Parts: sequence; structure tokens; C-alpha cells
Amino acid sequence: MKKVLLKDIKIGMNIAEPVSSSNGEIILNPGYYVTSLDIVGKLEDAGVEYVICDETKSLDTFSFTPEIEKPPKEIHEPTPAEIAQELKEELVQAKKTFSKSTEVVKNIMTDLRFGKELKMDVVKETVSGLLDSVSKNPHALLSLTLIKDYDNYTYQHSVNVCIFATTFAQKLFHKKDIVLRISEGALLHDLGKVKIPSHIINKKSRLTNEEFDIIKKHPIYGEMLLKKQNIFDPIITEITRHHHEDYNGNGYPDKLKGKEINKYAAIVSISDFYDALTTKRSYKPAIPPQQAISILYRQAGQKFDFRLVNHFIKTIGIYPIGSRIKLASGKIAVVVGFDETELLYPLVKIIIDEQGNKVSSSKVISLVNSDDTILDEIVDLEAIDLEKIL
Ligand SMILES: [Fe+2]
Ligand SMILES: [Fe+2]
Repeated sequence: MKKVLLKDIKIGMNIAEPVSSSNGEIILNPGYYVTSLDIVGKLEDAGVEYVICDETKSLDTFSFTPEIEKPPKEIHEPTPAEIAQELKEELVQAKKTFSKSTEVVKNIMTDLRFGKELKMDVVKETVSGLLDSVSKNPHALLSLTLIKDYDNYTYQHSVNVCIFATTFAQKLFHKKDIVLRISEGALLHDLGKVKIPSHIINKKSRLTNEEFDIIKKHPIYGEMLLKKQNIFDPIITEITRHHHEDYNGNGYPDKLKGKEINKYAAIVSISDFYDALTTKRSYKPAIPPQQAISILYRQAGQKFDFRLVNHFIKTIGIYPIGSRIKLASGKIAVVVGFDETELLYPLVKIIIDEQGNKVSSSKVISLVNSDDTILDEIVDLEAIDLEKIL
């Protein structure tokens, strides 16, 4: 028996356990053979995340006509240098997309603050640009989330959360339409903050309990603002209202628990938490990516659904792209790639040698095939421009 995510369903698979929708209605019975991928969309609509397949009964290729033997296709495994080159190429466009998206969020929030109309066509165009880049190379935009713009925190936070959620959703869901709507919800998730007095939002010191109670109203304000603007898409409104609910019921505003929390909102919730941890605020330092990942991991099954945390970590890596690490040899390297099956052994580029000298040009190496291992994360450096390193 094998658990298969919807995006990995293939024609010929044999369903081993009954599949039911979120309201308990049986959609597929055991023994069902997948004969068309149309079923994937139906399962997605019914809130199903995965199916259990019987590998022994599944057909390799489901076909009514005998397959004519074809020569095996040559699969080209990209070399570390090719992977780095692809990242470098996408980074140029990703940087433009990133700053344009931040500008868009700034304009949207300003418009809403002055009671103007929310331009959904601009939102759609923005998330489509972000998804485009994620589809070409998710690591380009992900690396940019590490470069924090302290002055534009709220706007950049929305873009970062959108990048995490889009990359995450693209791995989990088959339908582009669903991914785009999650992306729209993620970009707009904090729009209710325009209704919170700016002296509280911009407060330099820690918030009092009373102030925090006011902040906690932003998901409700956000949903109200959306509905006032005639935006009723349930994916967007659920994300906006429920991105601070916790799996254990300790979140806000509705104290929902476990499966009661909309799964799209749960995706944004993890993305939001990770970005908030890794961002410096006037009242708290930034937590380095790897420490943030371990904090997130400790929250699995508590604050967040365990399976979603696992997927999230596979999305952004244990050593995120652009983070710096110290190797056992004493060298310092930048992470420039990773494979989700080998998260502990990323692709790296050495920037400082064992004597402490800067290395201007070095090869990209995979730690899977190297004698060197990771000792620690480097925490005291500003984010770097990967484009210059690669
Ligand atoms: Fe929020
Ligand atoms: Fe947020």
C-alpha cells in the first residue's frame, strides 16, 4: 500500500482504500482503477489530499492497445553547475517580479486605507507573474525572501508569504486555478491590517495585551473588507479569516481546531509563521532560517498539521537557498540548490576557504558526493545577492 498525493496520481493506479469527501460521502471504492486524470480535479474539489493505492494491483501503463516497445528515453540529470546556472538565469526576472509585487501590495494597502476599490485584476496579474517564476525555478523567488526590507515590512511580508504559499501549493495541487486562488489569498492575507491604527502596527516596542487584542481583529477586518469589495471566493476569504487559527485550537479569531481549519488557510498560516520568525522587528531579532525550520518542526502536530509542516520543509529546504553554512573543513558556503530527497546535503558554492580568504570563483558542489559535511549555520551575516555569487 502506498499513500499517493493527488498530483502524483497516474492512470492505471489501483485504489486500495475508500476515498471520501470532507463531508463523508464516498467518492471512490476500493478496487477502482484510475482510467482518466479527470478524477484528480473531482478529488481536489471534494477536499481530498491523497489516496491509498495498491501497488501490486496497479498497472504500469493503462492502455487498451498493446504498447509498442520504444527505446528507453535518455534522462539527462542536470549537473550541479547546470542547476546553479538555471537558478542564476531565473533570478534576473524573479528580482523584477519580486519588487513589482511589493509595489503592488503597497498600492493595494494604500488604496484600501483611503477607501478606494481593490483592483483584483492587478492582484491576479501579480500572482500570475509570481507563479510563472515559481514554475520555471521556485528557488529563485524563494532565495529573495531572505533579503528582508525592514522599512517595507508589511508589504514584503505579504509577498514572501505569497511566494512560500504558491511554491507549497504548486507541489500539492494539480489544478492551476486552485494554486492561483491560494496565491491571491496569500498576497491579500493581511489586508485587514489597514483597519488597525498605525501607531499599533508600527509600534517599535513589544505590544501590550490590549494592543495585541486589537491586532487579533485583522483577520475579521480582512474578510469584511473583501466582502465589501464583492470578493466572495471562499479560498480567498477563508485564507484571510483563518490564517491565524492553530491546529490545537489556540489560534484566533474563531479558535478552530484540526480539520475544522480550511487547508488553504493552513498553508498560508505556516508560510506566515515562518516569514515572521525569519524577519527582524524592532522588538525581536530575526531567527536564522535553519533555526526557524526547527522551531516550525517542533510545532508540527501542535500549532500546525504535521503533514503540512513536512511538505513545507520539503518546499523550502532544511538549509534554504541563499543561507550560509560552515563546513567541517572550515570553509563557508552558500546554499544554491537542494533536492527534496536529500535535504541534509544541498548544493553549495564555497565563498570563504579554510584559511578565511574570500573565494571569488569556485565550482558548485553537491554535498551528497562530498567528504565535507555541514557543521553549522552562519547567523551573523546580512543576506547576500545570489546573482553575484553564482
Ligand atoms: Fe495575519
Ligand atoms: Fe501575516
